[in-house]
This record gives sequence, structure tokens and C-alpha cells, in this order.
Amino acid sequence: MGAQIIDGKAFAAQVREKVAGHVAHLRQAHGVTPGLAVVLVGEDPASQVYVRSKGKQTVETGMNSYEHRLDASTGEAELLALIEQLNSDRDVHGILVQLPLPAHLNEDLVINAIAPEKDVDGFHISNVGRLATGQKAMVPCTPLGCLMMLREHHGSLSGMNAVVVGRSNIVGKPMAQLLLRDSCTVTIAHSRTKEIEEVTRRADIVVAAVGRPEMVTGDWIRPGATVIDVGINRVDAPEKGTNEDGSVKTRLVGDCHFESCAEVAGAITPVPGGVGPMTIACLLANTVTACCRMHG
Ligand code: GUN
Repeated sequence: MGAQIIDGKAFAAQVREKVAGHVAHLRQAHGVTPGLAVVLVGEDPASQVYVRSKGKQTVETGMNSYEHRLDASTGEAELLALIEQLNSDRDVHGILVQLPLPAHLNEDLVINAIAPEKDVDGFHISNVGRLATGQKAMVPCTPLGCLMMLREHHGSLSGMNAVVVGRSNIVGKPMAQLLLRDSCTVTIAHSRTKEIEEVTRRADIVVAAVGRPEMVTGDWIRPGATVIDVGINRVDAPEKGTNEDGSVKTRLVGDCHFESCAEVAGAITPVPGGVGPMTIACLLANTVTACCRMHG
């Protein structure tokens, strides 16, 4: 293996420490404690894990965490009324509605009901437009975490060829905007891209965010390139044996085939321990940013 491992877990711990310092200052100097409200509708197991982790880390950095767990059958009017209440609550500086929402709820409508200045996910249409036009925006947490790791590793990204694999609103598109803002030459590749491995082989930076386990292999990567793996996929791992209930054990893999990519790349983020921890750290940082903008 030739690649340097970019340790997202360690970097996230540094970011959280900085966040905690800012929080302590806001409390002492301004008498304000940043507050993050997280809304979870329904019982999706993965979402429950994320929400618990977000709440725990919010409290650990000295902020207030407000969790709102609603029944899967909650109607749109009730959810919108809660958001309205959080929008006008002066103790709440950040609002996050965990996605995906149950199918009967209109995600766009719900996200766009959040006050843009409290939209710590950066999903509100106003923040999407602001990012695209270079205005002050709340920036989506996962791409922000990727950008921070890239800047930490490379310093300036100016002039680099960056290929983002995946075109989601949550990761692919905002990632491309952020890389463009840092003066990269940006390509977005996706499921319909022709000869995709030739496109990625031209890249100095590959960001993989497609949600397909181990799709990007070493032969897609230019020697020495930096690989950022956003994927978190659970796959069967029969080599690990079975659980007590007889089901096959599982393991987490990224969108990149780690071993083959690490042989070619100059640097790579692992899964787990790469992008994942940075996402929550950036959510905490965004909450402090929202609080500062409200009180500054
Ligand atoms: N579900 C998966 N990722 C995210 C995220 O970044 N924000 C929210 N709100 N929901 C998610």
C-alpha cells in the first residue's frame, strides 16, 4: 500500500476541540449557548443512530441539544408547525430535519420551511443558490468535511483537476461547487458518464459519492491522486462468521475498493474513520457559525 491515510477521525476530534473553544467563548463573553434542534420522523434504524450521535456530540462540545422525535405517521401540517416554532425560538440556532422523511412527507417543502440562517444542513434552496453564486451560505456538512480534509492535505487546491463521482443534492453537487470555489477544474461524473474510469484517471482529486459499495477500483485512479471516499455501505461479510440469530455478519465499506485504490493513490480516506466523523464535526461547526451570525 502506497497511499497516505487521511485520518478523518483524528481531524474531526481537532475540529470538535475548536468548536468547544468557540462555544466556551460565546458563553463567557456573550452569555449565549449555541443550540441545535434535530427532528427525526419515524424509526429508521440508521437515522436513529445518526441522531443519537449528533445529540451526544452537541452536548459534549458544550452546546444545547434539542431532540424532537415524531411518529412515522406525523402529518405535514404538524411537522411544519414544529419547524415554525423552532424558527422563532431564540435558543435554537441550528435546525436539522433528518432525511429521509417518510414517503408521505414532501422533503423539499419541509426543508424550505426552515429559516435559511438556521439551516445547518445547507439544504434550503436559498443556501444552495448562495453557495452557487459565491454569497455567504450555510454549506452542507459532508462536502464541507471533505473540503477541509483536502485543504489540510494539499494546502491550496487551485488549478487541480477534481472529479466528483455522484450528482446528489446532498453531496455531489455542493462538493462540485466547493471545489470550484477553491479554483479546481471540476467534472461531475455519474451513472451515465461514458468511459468513467478514463475520466477519473485524469483527476488529481477523486471524490466518490455514489452509494455503491467498492465501485471505484485502483485502475480508476491516477498514480499519486487523492481519493476521498464518501460512501458508507454495509455489506455481508461471511468470512466474519454469523451472529447469534444465524444471520451473516456485516462490515462497512466505502464507494471505493480500499486496497486497490490505496496501492495507486497518493492519499486516501478510510471507511470507517474518514469522511463520516468529519460530517458531524462540521454540523457542530455550522451550528456555532449560525449562532455567531445571529449574535454578531
Ligand atoms: N441523512 C443522511 N445524511 C444526512 C445529512 O447530512 N443531513 C440530514 N438532515 N439527513 C441526512
